[in-house]
Amino acid sequence: MPHKTMTNSHGSKLELVHRFFSGTGPSYDFIVNFSTFGIDRLWKRRMVNLIPPHATRILDLACGTGISTLAIAKRFPLAQVVGVELRDEYLDIARKKVQELGLRRIEFVLSRAEDYRSPEPFDCVSASYLPKYADLKVLIPALHHMLKTDALLIMHDFTFPPKPYLVWIWRVYFKVLQWVGTPLFPDWREIFYGLPVLIEQTDWVPELRDELEANGFRDIRFEYLTLYGSAIMTARK
Ligand SMILES: C[S@@+](CC[C@H](N)C(=O)[O-])C[C@H]1O[C@@H](n2cnc3c(N)ncnc32)[C@H](O)[C@@H]1O
Repeated sequence: MPHKTMTNSHGSKLELVHRFFSGTGPSYDFIVNFSTFGIDRLWKRRMVNLIPPHATRILDLACGTGISTLAIAKRFPLAQVVGVELRDEYLDIARKKVQELGLRRIEFVLSRAEDYRSPEPFDCVSASYLPKYADLKVLIPALHHMLKTDALLIMHDFTFPPKPYLVWIWRVYFKVLQWVGTPLFPDWREIFYGLPVLIEQTDWVPELRDELEANGFRDIRFEYLTLYGSAIMTARK
């Protein structure tokens, strides 16, 4: 099924997020694991490994069902961890997990990442799969205000493969996901068809680098993960 071309306007990106994620909360953890062959766990582990060991306040943006938030809280049991998420459906699942595990130092906030403000600064901010949806021109200055000096920013997201032979594999992968995944998980149709279009159209890597530089972040580093399928950018305030 051909998918509508997406624009880069932020109103339409917000609408896209709600369209993508509506009704997908309960199956999210299973699908992310299934569709990445478990590699998402390695990517999350890489992000958590990058968090400075002395961090006492950590912000996890677009925390979804709390996969990364919980991983952070388990690695940093004495730290205060704040998860921010746009959709209540996802946040409810995250809250239930935290309740079941009896973790006390996690707070969840229902908010668009760009609108969230904290009176207390953070040692680290992480976000997995947010950059392609975010209004980086609003988000990055807001984060700069909420980070302590030397604090670390860690942003992770999918990337369009920069090598022609990998583009072919990438396209086949999404075709298979659409053919196999859609009949099994109809709630995921929007994502299975819309995500590759979004990844191809969004240039979050140079956009994020530009915004970080414009806002005085330093030590900007970038690494591709697993066959250029995703990447992490880090920077210090
Ligand atoms: C693919 S999920 C990732 C969730 C989580 N970070 C993870 O890796 O498991 C993307 C999440 O980002 C949220 N999201 C997208 N744009 C957002 C924004 N501007 N502010 C806050 N959350 C956002 C969506 O609602 C969705 O739950």
